[in-house]
Amino acid sequence: TQPNVCIVGSINMDLTVTTDKMPMKGETVLGNKFFTNPGGKGANQAVAAARMGANVNFIGAVGADSFGETVLANFTKEGIQTEGIETIPDASTGTATIILSENDNRIIVASGANHHVTPELAKKHADLIKHSDIVLLQLEVPMETIVFTIDVAEANGVPVILNPAPFEALPKKVLKTVAYLTPNEIELASMKKDPLFASIKEKLIVTRGDKGISFVANGGERDISGYNIQVADTTGAGDTFNGALAAELAGGTGLHKAISMANAAAALSVSKIGAQGGMPAKRDVTEFLREREMFE
Ligand code: RIB
Repeated sequence: TQPNVCIVGSINMDLTVTTDKMPMKGETVLGNKFFTNPGGKGANQAVAAARMGANVNFIGAVGADSFGETVLANFTKEGIQTEGIETIPDASTGTATIILSENDNRIIVASGANHHVTPELAKKHADLIKHSDIVLLQLEVPMETIVFTIDVAEANGVPVILNPAPFEALPKKVLKTVAYLTPNEIELASMKKDPLFASIKEKLIVTRGDKGISFVANGGERDISGYNIQVADTTGAGDTFNGALAAELAGGTGLHKAISMANAAAALSVSKIGAQGGMPAKRDVTEFLREREMFE
């Protein structure tokens, strides 16, 4: 049977423009191409988990507009369960305006319908949380909803992975209850300011881009190296890691192996444009790792 992953999170349409030069303050530059692609950290992680073979239930919201229709159709195409997604009549679907240059990406999110992912909405679909093997969360929906979801998961013995992005200080309850926290290096720097930081070290799985992953296991720090891949677009690489990690852990894979698989999935994901564009299927990840092992 397929492992069950439940994601309570954001759905956006990504509006991406590529440029050779990032505009400076007050400057206008001529860019290159413009794309629209389904995105949002929650949605991206859902697609990554589904491609890695998980059955994914999503709790979220879109607006009653054409972006909403497009992103829902994308979920269906990816085999993600959408009964937990509500269409909010007076809201617009979340958008992310992304400026992409060769070695940088900058993103501004307009949350729109993602603001409507309230504890009430999560409560209505709480069965999806209760009956999952793992719950995966990010911080693009209100913090009250994160706290509510964690409470439901805890009461039902379901482990939670929290990707603290975009960074916000986390309530003590959240830090204490989640099984894993997956910051990138910038988010980690913010987390270090938390007085509880010392007590959560064992929960950290830090994504370090092409430098790989650092985590603590059995009291010792471990590093898994990254891969040197031709980069087309790093948007969504962290999401690929999180979705793949959730799918693997939900399926019973051990922590070290699950992190290695997710690290390889994230590496493969940067080779194509769009947050979801390069996300691999599980057989691609297995094949990639087998090829790498042969040359080691
Ligand atoms: O993590 C990448 C995602 O962040 C993009 O798809 C964008 O929608 C923003 O939410």
